[in-house]
Amino acid sequence: MHSELVISAIVATAKNRVIGDGHSLLWKISEDFRRLKEITMGCPLIMGRKTWDSLGRPLPGRANIVLTRKTKWAEEGAIKATSIEEALELAKNWLNHFGETKKEIFIFGGMEVYKVGIHFCNFIYLTEVDVKPLSKFKFPKIDKDEWKIISKSEQKISEDDLKYKFITYQRVK
Ligand SMILES: NC(=O)c1ccc[n+]([C@@H]2O[C@H](COP(=O)([O-])OP(=O)(O)OC[C@H]3O[C@@H](n4cnc5c(N)ncnc54)[C@H](OP(=O)(O)O)[C@@H]3O)[C@@H](O)[C@H]2O)c1
Repeated sequence: MHSELVISAIVATAKNRVIGDGHSLLWKISEDFRRLKEITMGCPLIMGRKTWDSLGRPLPGRANIVLTRKTKWAEEGAIKATSIEEALELAKNWLNHFGETKKEIFIFGGMEVYKVGIHFCNFIYLTEVDVKPLSKFKFPKIDKDEWKIISKSEQKISEDDLKYKFITYQRVK
């Protein structure tokens, strides 16, 4: 638990950094969904409009801050932002009003939002799935000079026999 404000990315990637096919994820790992819920509960999520569409509903117990360039966009349960800076401001304000002890903002994807959001992150919660699908939708490269691993789970096996691991990175520079 952090008492200071922390910005973190949370993501599940294949071994080749693929995060999805542009519409949805390419695997279903229920332990990963449970963990994602546990880690993010009570906190603001910053996501792209396409990820919002793929969820189909706001994730309960969390601020759903949605990045879009569409000026007239509005959907129930979403807090609209037009830039990553605005999204982070909205997330901080939300935490000041509604946040409990954990002051953490999550960069929630997809590819476009990870690309602009990663620069603000101190931590990455990565679920690494042992598959190598073809897709252009990828998480940015995690540069070893910029990030160190601070925890790594043992290998786990999903209901669908997929191997996966939880890895946490902390920014070093
Ligand atoms: N594996 C994972 O952990 C994970 C997590 C999340 C998502 N995903 C996957 O990621 C894929 C979607 O990724 P994506 O890159 O296509 O979409 P995305 O990042 O979810 O959304 C892109 C949209 O966000 C808005 N946007 C992006 N950058 C912006 C900026 N700087 N300022 C204002 N608005 C901005 C634009 O919305 P408008 O078009 O409305 O202007 C853009 O079209 C899906 O396959 C999804 O399943 C995977």
